[in-house]
Amino acid sequence: MQQFSTITDMRAWSRTQQREGAVIGFVPTMGALHDGHLSLIRQAKESATRVVVSIYVNPTQFDNPEDLANYPKTLEADLALLAKEGVDAVFLPTNEVMYPDGYATFIEIVGPLTDKLCAVARPGHFRGVATVVTKLFGAVLPDIAVFGEKDFQQVLIISKMVNDLNLPVDIQVGRTVREPDGLAMSSRNRRLSKESREKALGLPRGLELANKAYMDGERNAMDLIEKVANELLVHEGVELDYCDVIRLSGFAEVTQAVPGCVLAAAVFVDGVRLIDHIHLGAEHIGVEIDEE
Ligand code: PAJ
Repeated sequence: MQQFSTITDMRAWSRTQQREGAVIGFVPTMGALHDGHLSLIRQAKESATRVVVSIYVNPTQFDNPEDLANYPKTLEADLALLAKEGVDAVFLPTNEVMYPDGYATFIEIVGPLTDKLCAVARPGHFRGVATVVTKLFGAVLPDIAVFGEKDFQQVLIISKMVNDLNLPVDIQVGRTVREPDGLAMSSRNRRLSKESREKALGLPRGLELANKAYMDGERNAMDLIEKVANELLVHEGVELDYCDVIRLSGFAEVTQAVPGCVLAAAVFVDGVRLIDHIHLGAEHIGVEIDEE
């Protein structure tokens, strides 16, 4: 497995591969890898002949310095997992490489995708994500890039950006991988104590209960949201950051759920921020995997 930390080296490798006819699939990450990340790598392998993974904790997407400082870092274990997965190259840029002194360019997406949910809860977050993803694309030169549905607002924003800016990258979406108990895998789960983890389970459970109510005919958004809140707010140390029903077409907040809506929530559990969502009317939240 190749490792690169400069833009020049990364790009040179990709160009050589592409000249030889390779299709490059790319999975950007911030490390602390789990099965969710690995499932995206496996998906990339299905349509690409080379797979590149980046590990870079991007400072410009953190609105909270403490969250950035506490972001888990497990580089040695990550590299071992990637090698085992048969990844061809890892891109590990430093802050100096990504944002050298005098750095001045940012990408901002405006409109309905960025005036609600995580965009409001974490000001500047998606500007940082859009900027770093564009920069990573410029270094890795991927033909395909795979993102997780777990961060569904992020995927929609990146797809919109790629389309608006005519970036020559095919964006693919991978399903959310969950722990056997239903909690969506996240690098941040490592920061949950056993007790906090129990509280966190209220999030997928609440979403499931809300979905069940939807299936039974409940359409009032406030009542659906209450199902989620009731599962979470019974615990001390749990705070709901947001919980909204969003119609995917137009990305509009609605008071009455209709087909094609998502119930999305972000929650602080003992200071750790977790997000999850469910497609209302879906058979199941998609509790999955743990393949081993
Ligand atoms: P990170 O949180 O490391 O996630 C990297 C990719 O893994 C994202 O596309 C994310 O949606 C996906 N992912 C996370 N948890 C998942 C799960 N349980 N199942 C499936 N996929 C999952 O998202 C980021 O990093 C950053 O914002 C990044 C895009 C790398 C830009 O810095």
